[in-house]
Amino acid sequence: MLVSKLPASWNIDQVLDDLDQHGFALIDHAYPADYVTNLVNECTTHLNQFREAAIQNGVVSKIRSDHILWIHPELAVAQHHVATLSLLSEQLNQAFYLGIREVEAHFACYHAGEFYALHRDNPQQKNDRVVSTVYYLHEQWQDDWGGQLRLQDKNGEWHIIQPQPNRIALFQSDLLHEVIEAKQQRLSITAWLRSGNSIW
Ligand code: OGA
Ligand code: MN
Repeated sequence: MLVSKLPASWNIDQVLDDLDQHGFALIDHAYPADYVTNLVNECTTHLNQFREAAIQNGVVSKIRSDHILWIHPELAVAQHHVATLSLLSEQLNQAFYLGIREVEAHFACYHAGEFYALHRDNPQQKNDRVVSTVYYLHEQWQDDWGGQLRLQDKNGEWHIIQPQPNRIALFQSDLLHEVIEAKQQRLSITAWLRSGNSIW
């Protein structure tokens, strides 16, 4: 799927500046309401296919308790978000010479009580994830529902980011971050902008 233009609401200069200065950026009101509705529908109708993220190749980890579904070609609404991120990647490459070549993404669902402990998405540059993005697609979120993204920026300062509906958080994949335990169902798409085709 190809997307020819980034949404008009995105302030790309601000995003580039924030990434440059802090290593992270936020895009609020990312998509029009009808797109959000379609995406929520696509996500919720597939919830029965989500699997425990902590189990990979039969190995169970205690670091996270959310459930995920990798975005595949039949998930057409989510593919539009992935295509939009591909277009954004071109801008990031032009600005920072990051060499991003692909986008890898999954839906994530945190039920009440679920979390993702402190981690980096690309520890010691072991994989080719360059920029991490998280789009929040639940229909509402209240500050006392937990589920915040807590992130250490590239200058060592900590930030608490509310998972506001229709918000995209972008950050360097080597930064330390966690998802605080959610008290309500929390829906998102995590997508990594990657520099190559290598398998880790
Ligand atoms: C991840 C992650 C943060 C969030 O999926 O690796 O850190 O806010 N997600 O969902
Ligand atoms: Mn992460």
